[in-house]
Amino acid sequence: MDEQRTWWKEAVVYQIYPRSFADSDGDGVGDLRGVIEKLDYVAGLGVDVIWLNPVYESPQHDNGYDISDYRAIHEEYGTMGDWEELLAQVHERDMRLVMDLVVNHTSVDHEWFQKSRRDEDGYREYYFWHEGEDGEAPNNWTSGFGGDAWNYDETAGLQYLHLFDETQADLNWDNEAVRENVYDMMNWWLEKGIDGFRMDVINAISKPEGLPDGDPDSEWVGIEQFTNGPEALGYMTEMATETYDDYDVMTVGECLDVDPETGSDYVGADGPIDMLFHFEHMSVDQKSGWLSPSEWNLTDLKAVFSEWQTDLDGWNSLYLTNHDQPRIVSRFGDDGEYRRESAKLLGTLLFTLSGTPYVYQGQELGMTNYPWERLEQLDDLQSVGKVEAAIEAGEIADFEEVKQAVRDRSRDNARTPMQWDDSEHAGFTDGEPWLPVNPNHETINAAAAVTDRDSVLHYYRDLVELRETHEELIYGAYNLLLPNHESVWAYRMELEDDAVLVALNVDDTETTVTLDDAARTEELLCSNYNPPTEAGASLTLRPYEARVYRLE
Ligand code: GLC
Repeated sequence: MDEQRTWWKEAVVYQIYPRSFADSDGDGVGDLRGVIEKLDYVAGLGVDVIWLNPVYESPQHDNGYDISDYRAIHEEYGTMGDWEELLAQVHERDMRLVMDLVVNHTSVDHEWFQKSRRDEDGYREYYFWHEGEDGEAPNNWTSGFGGDAWNYDETAGLQYLHLFDETQADLNWDNEAVRENVYDMMNWWLEKGIDGFRMDVINAISKPEGLPDGDPDSEWVGIEQFTNGPEALGYMTEMATETYDDYDVMTVGECLDVDPETGSDYVGADGPIDMLFHFEHMSVDQKSGWLSPSEWNLTDLKAVFSEWQTDLDGWNSLYLTNHDQPRIVSRFGDDGEYRRESAKLLGTLLFTLSGTPYVYQGQELGMTNYPWERLEQLDDLQSVGKVEAAIEAGEIADFEEVKQAVRDRSRDNARTPMQWDDSEHAGFTDGEPWLPVNPNHETINAAAAVTDRDSVLHYYRDLVELRETHEELIYGAYNLLLPNHESVWAYRMELEDDAVLVALNVDDTETTVTLDDAARTEELLCSNYNPPTEAGASLTLRPYEARVYRLE
């Protein structure tokens, strides 16, 4: 464990997906002025940092992860003036602003790609261009959104690599000019006063020489080749030295295909980034492919978290959902009868492990997945791409066949508009929202949560405070108790003389466990049931009950 104390270890991060947060001008799309208007709400949660998903100029095929100009603000979101005001207002409230950095790929509309396809001014080598034999793709890699990872470009007469959508072309980091341009751009943002970067698929930036074929049986063919490539660590280290090492900022890298061992190279004492987002806990219900049912069990989830808590040589980031994941209460909780309890339980987990917690907009309200009925309702490239590819390949007949999987998995579950109140479009917009508003906004919304002391929102605020006043919840060592129990997740967090017991019943039936630690509880610090019950060596936990005790 990394014990040196820093502000970003003690911080709580709130993630804002600007397209779906708040629309100030009635065009149905969220914007920067909308975010500014809601800053008091965000500050009121007690969070310290805002991570803003991409707001750069973009044709928005992948909602801003397809950037056409890194130094301009996308028109629907506002102007650079609006962004500057946002930064100032965030700072005024003693919070910090972390920007998304998407440099594995650019939009094909980016000037670099335009010049590259025309082979102008030395730009050809900015991307990966290959002929492929007899019109075949140059290798067997697939796109993360379905279909293969190569696209033929008429202008160039060649195919280019895209690990994501065909409008997102992979940059060739082996070209020094690419790296220098990226570093210049990062320094330009750092000079503007930002407080850090969240780095999109950063460990995919180094592709191995010759772009060798990947394992054809893998769900994402090529992943073992294009992640953690030969220079991934080297380029990231160079990036750190050339840019943010001179600034007091935080960095978190989204890393595909990492375990605590490989992850330690990136976030260890000499590593280039402070924290990383891995996917291991997001894979426990994805064992049989994206379009198959999402079955999972608690022991797997515990094992993943426990491994990262104990084996990572570096600082953990803690997240349960984000703009790419379904709503957590629908996934690992119960979005029916025990929505409130299970949302609180999952919040308890997030705030009582060692690491920096990330809260995704609406998570603090216990927002749920959307009841998708038709493919046309969905916008997300990944969901639409996966379903269409399966229909095309004859694997399924229609949407109906995979509706439940899409309901469980789609990234659009996280992207439906933020639920501010019970009005027609949930207070998100006066216009037509770009994605449907969840009908349950009539009961699940921020206005209702603010006035209800028993809401998930108030519980999250309490958790933020609990973590602030109990350093063992930030810097403590994690000890898993009852590792094989199928519904109870219990652990002790210890720092010097302080110890805390966390007991979570991740199930809709009451469960009794015997725990030595439960016999030495001193004070109940937090509980999602009212009134709480007494502790003794045997602990009876009601459905989705969460309790945190200080131990003697
Ligand atoms: C990351 C982003 C995701 C995006 C993808 C391609 O995984 O979080 O939203 O689609 O990268 O940029």
